[in-house]
Amino acid sequence: MNLKATKTSLNPHLQKKKVVMLPREEGRKVEMATKSQFTLRLWGLKNRFNSILTMSTALIIVLTIFITMRNGDQAEILAMEAKESSAGTCDLFSGQWVYDNTTYPLYSESGCKFMSDQSACEKFGRRDLKYQNWRWQPHGCNLPRFNVTKLLERLRDRRLVFVGDSLNRNQWISMVCLLGASLPDSHKIMVSNGSLMSFKAKEHNASIDFYWAPLLVESNSDDPVHHRIPDRVARAQSIEKHARHWTNADVLVFNTYLWWRRPTMNILWGSFEDEHGIHKEIDSLRGYELALNTWSDWLEFHVDHLKTKLFFMSMSPTHSSGEEWGRPSGQNCYHETEPIAEEGYRGKDTNENMMRVVEKVIKSLRGRGVNVQMLNITQLSEYRKDGHPSIYRKQWEPLTKEQQDNPGSYADCIHWCLPGVPDVWNQLLYAYLFPE
Ligand SMILES: *[C@@H]1O[C@H](CO)[C@@H](O)[C@H](O)[C@H]1NC(C)=O
Ligand SMILES: *[C@@H]1O[C@H](CO)[C@@H](O)[C@H](O)[C@H]1NC(C)=O
Ligand SMILES: *[C@@H]1O[C@H](CO)[C@@H](O)[C@H](O)[C@H]1NC(C)=O
Ligand SMILES: *[C@@H]1O[C@H](CO)[C@@H](O)[C@H](O)[C@H]1NC(C)=O
Ligand SMILES: *[C@@H]1O[C@H](CO)[C@@H](O)[C@H](O)[C@H]1NC(C)=O
Repeated sequence: MNLKATKTSLNPHLQKKKVVMLPREEGRKVEMATKSQFTLRLWGLKNRFNSILTMSTALIIVLTIFITMRNGDQAEILAMEAKESSAGTCDLFSGQWVYDNTTYPLYSESGCKFMSDQSACEKFGRRDLKYQNWRWQPHGCNLPRFNVTKLLERLRDRRLVFVGDSLNRNQWISMVCLLGASLPDSHKIMVSNGSLMSFKAKEHNASIDFYWAPLLVESNSDDPVHHRIPDRVARAQSIEKHARHWTNADVLVFNTYLWWRRPTMNILWGSFEDEHGIHKEIDSLRGYELALNTWSDWLEFHVDHLKTKLFFMSMSPTHSSGEEWGRPSGQNCYHETEPIAEEGYRGKDTNENMMRVVEKVIKSLRGRGVNVQMLNITQLSEYRKDGHPSIYRKQWEPLTKEQQDNPGSYADCIHWCLPGVPDVWNQLLYAYLFPE
């Protein structure tokens, strides 16, 4: 079952589309935009100098206060800060889905200029559209309303980067749709350069990016287009090749999970070019931990903790085995139109051990003064067996006769339709960017 799911997620054609989705036209527009930005930048220099002065002063004050505090209490202070910066006392991740067709969807599928064909379920024939109308209702409080104006203001002259695999890209597209829906075409643009794709809200000089790094560390699957490689190899101790592209961001949202969900992983010590590199096949969970430690070391030493807000998305669940929620065996998310109602439902594919590894690494980082907020979207997404594209997305290869006779066999029960579940992930991100 696992294998089957993974295979779908690694289908190169699924991935390919995303990268190619930018028409030629856009490239030219970008060059022009860059030129005028240069002029703007010169003009903005003086302003920036002033704000740097102000910021430095603020920084010195903060540092002084910090140093004056007793050293022994540092961990406690950091723990307090972490608590304050979280979204209040209410657990936003524990709650239920409520049908709400007056507020949801937050945008229309066809109204999103940069929608991906992997998530455009309506366009590809899905007729039951209830999956677009669910609101996440935490027990004991409400999610703040997603205010596009407010978020764009917050992102003015800033850069928000999603780093990870195709699920993170799914969330990035959702964010692009949420923010872009209200902007006229002349105010938004999409630029792509290798592993990096950037959505720009031009008036705000805001950049909302996605960087393809499915294992976070370097691997032989890093090509954003041709990454379907059967013998996967990870350089678990090397991340700088990727990290240099996002280290200066103002908000970073990471994920990595599905690509590690296999029994063992081939780890390389040395570079891909070096024939003397040493390979070893190790337990995937251990490889996952090595990689996350490399990632956390990078965050500790290279990311500006006063400036950059850090988030990690927990595992996105899959719905490949219908028997887990009471269907006959062989069924999956195909034909599902309602969320699972059972509170606390947990699918078998969701790997708790990997969750524990992430928690451990984040906790250790916190002890070293770096606060990464884990957005615990696993449980709330577990309920949404109805939210996947199943057969309603672009098929990159013609379907075989057998597939046509048995549509469930090629259903995508990993990614999510948009508008849909990832919009709520972004609402949660929003809640953490604007704590009460
Ligand atoms: C919303 O759902 C209710 C109940 O299912 C239905 O009566 C109503 O027509 C729906 N409204 C819209 C705008 O779809
Ligand atoms: C959204 O935020 C803007 C700017 O902060 C504010 O002026 C506006 O009232 C907000 N809109 C809503 C509906 O809350
Ligand atoms: C535009 O935003 C970038 C960050 O994404 C920043 O480095 C740059 O200074 C901004 N440009 C201006 C003119 O403020
Ligand atoms: C694309 O990225 C490369 C490497 O980061 C950089 O050297 C190049 O200038 C970029 N190209 C464009 C068109 O931005
Ligand atoms: C995430 O949520 C699940 C279920 O609500 C819980 O079991 C798990 O401990 C949570 N993890 C974190 C880091 O909060």
